[in-house]
Amino acid sequence: MSIIQRYLLTMVLAMLFIPGLTALLLGHLEKKRMEQEIDHRIELVARFAGATREYVAKNLRPALDQVAREFILEGKSSSYVTNGIFGYFNRHFPDYRYRQPALAPLNPTHLASPFERDLIKRFQENSALTVIKGYQKVDGRIYYYSAFPVVMEQKCLPCHGNPVDAPAALLNSYGTDSGFHWPVGKVISATVIQVPIDDEIAAMHARYYVLGGCALLLLSFFLGLHQFLFHRSFIRRLSLMTAIMDRQGGEGSVVERLPDEGADELGLLARSCNRTIQQLREANLELERKARRVAASEGSDVEFS
Ligand code: HEC
Repeated sequence: MSIIQRYLLTMVLAMLFIPGLTALLLGHLEKKRMEQEIDHRIELVARFAGATREYVAKNLRPALDQVAREFILEGKSSSYVTNGIFGYFNRHFPDYRYRQPALAPLNPTHLASPFERDLIKRFQENSALTVIKGYQKVDGRIYYYSAFPVVMEQKCLPCHGNPVDAPAALLNSYGTDSGFHWPVGKVISATVIQVPIDDEIAAMHARYYVLGGCALLLLSFFLGLHQFLFHRSFIRRLSLMTAIMDRQGGEGSVVERLPDEGADELGLLARSCNRTIQQLREANLELERKARRVAASEGSDVEFS
């Protein structure tokens, strides 16, 4: 393998290694940044839903209680109101999902799916767990989800305790089969918020392709430039020196000096070679002179013998 081939190979390996490492690091940071951004969106949804529930419990329900003793689903149930508001929100953002599924819900549409059941079970088994995050594929789309535990409290008992205590209007709407006798202090549901992230992933891939393309272009340009300069300032001069040195000392050879005597390393080498050529040339001339003298003296010997 020639010097330039070895040199270029080392350069290519170094240049592939560095961008490769950079790409891995960038990918990691990009994913982190995307998750932070999605986390922020999920937190907004969760906080807005939480604020709605709080408003119903602290403002709307007490205000309605003053004018109507009976249970009005559309104004007194924070779950019902929050789900209703989220329904309107979904008109503009249909891919955002907000659910509070339960293993035994009042409203059958809130029955936990196998995936949701698994989340609730994990919260039930580990009370220290405050959030579960992850990716989920639904109907070919990728979602990022966050789930938070919902714990049964004393104040929920009027509607989720014994059905005997529940408002008649609630029993009329949901019956008595499910949604009651929830144990206080236990996780009975989970708030699950899902946000689609296909667009973010596609944008991340697009950024990768553009960056990768630019890096490849730069790499090719850099290697081309290196090859050109290396050839010009090293290989070409070295080949010329080799050719001249090869012609030295042959039969009937012409004595040439190396033309390149610049200030760099190759110039120094050329000067040193020129000195050697000069010394060889003088030694040769001396030898020739001696040979001629010997030949001349042998000739006179013949004459006088
Ligand atoms: C005033 C009655 C009332 C109170 C008090 C109440 N809820 Fe509910 N809850 C409801 C109604 C009604 C629904 C069904 C709403 C719907 O159909 O969307 C519901 C639904 C739910 C759901 C969704 C699953 C299901 O059963 O459909 C969860 C979870 C829930 N409530 C948790 C709680 C918790 C936790 C508390 C206490 C902090 C609480 N609720 C207090 C009336 C109540």
